[in-house]
Amino acid sequence: MKKIAVLTSGGDAPGMNAAVRAVVRSTIYYGAKAYGIKQGYHGLIRGQIEEMDLSSVADIIHRGGTKLQTARSEEFMTVAGRKRAMYTVEMFEIDGIVVIGGDGSFKGAQKLAELGVPIIGIPGTIDNDLRYTESTIGFDTAVNTVLDAISKIRDTSSSHGRANIIQVMGRHCGDIALHTGLAGGAESIIVPEMYFDIKKVCGKLVQGKNRGKLHSIIILAEGVGDGIETAKRIEEITGIETRVTILGHIQRGGSPTAYDRILASKMGARAVQLLLEGKQARAVGIKGLKVIDVSLSEAINGGSWFNKEMYELADILSL
Ligand code: F6P
Repeated sequence: MKKIAVLTSGGDAPGMNAAVRAVVRSTIYYGAKAYGIKQGYHGLIRGQIEEMDLSSVADIIHRGGTKLQTARSEEFMTVAGRKRAMYTVEMFEIDGIVVIGGDGSFKGAQKLAELGVPIIGIPGTIDNDLRYTESTIGFDTAVNTVLDAISKIRDTSSSHGRANIIQVMGRHCGDIALHTGLAGGAESIIVPEMYFDIKKVCGKLVQGKNRGKLHSIIILAEGVGDGIETAKRIEEITGIETRVTILGHIQRGGSPTAYDRILASKMGARAVQLLLEGKQARAVGIKGLKVIDVSLSEAINGGSWFNKEMYELADILSL
């Protein structure tokens, strides 16, 4: 294994830079050459690849986004696109690739692995929707970004005695909503994994108002429905003035938390070790304090487990 390349793919996540840094520096530490591929699979198809040295990853551990840039490549999903990607791999004599991204990126990695390229996946997505690992890189930072917003919105919610819906990211996964809802003391958490009963949400609001509660925070995962529509229905049912904040891409940016930087550093180093040990088509993850690795197919098909106990706890504590 002489040449190891790294790419970031799909939605960016805070901590991806720390992971790139760990991959590049570990590769060089073990005596191999490090390469960076720009714009994910899109760049792999177009041969956007260059050698990286120790200083090319200096001053990025604390930065959000990804220095390598990222993309969602439709072309890579086609046989012809992957053939072109293979041309780059062969031309640059790349011996192994580290892919940092979410489930879509892992599916792409598996397709490339099937063509004979040694690949290791690192979970990088704010969604935390890969169940084989306790956390994905970027999730902790996104949760803290949302939490900061909740605290600010709570101030104005109390001042006006309004209800406030905060719509968060997560597509098919309610983890951002769940964690921020519990940590932020939200009155209701609406996630795709649990049955959504508007009457229950409204009942809680009215009950809280009747006993003198000034603020009401409802966290809505984007996958469930539209925040503005939901606010209208709440106003109609309860008569309580309801405002909506859609946090959007602010959740994807910002300096990574210490947790995400450490996670990214550990996973990046382990990914390189796995390639050097001759492992193929694996994904690194975290269980407890330990870095683990599973097959890419296990990582992709890890199911859709949802922490119901945590959801129920948030419900109980927000009475
Ligand atoms: O997968 C990460 C994510 O941020 C999701 O939470 C969100 O739904 C999606 O990406 C948004 O994608 P885009 O930036 O392409 O609009």
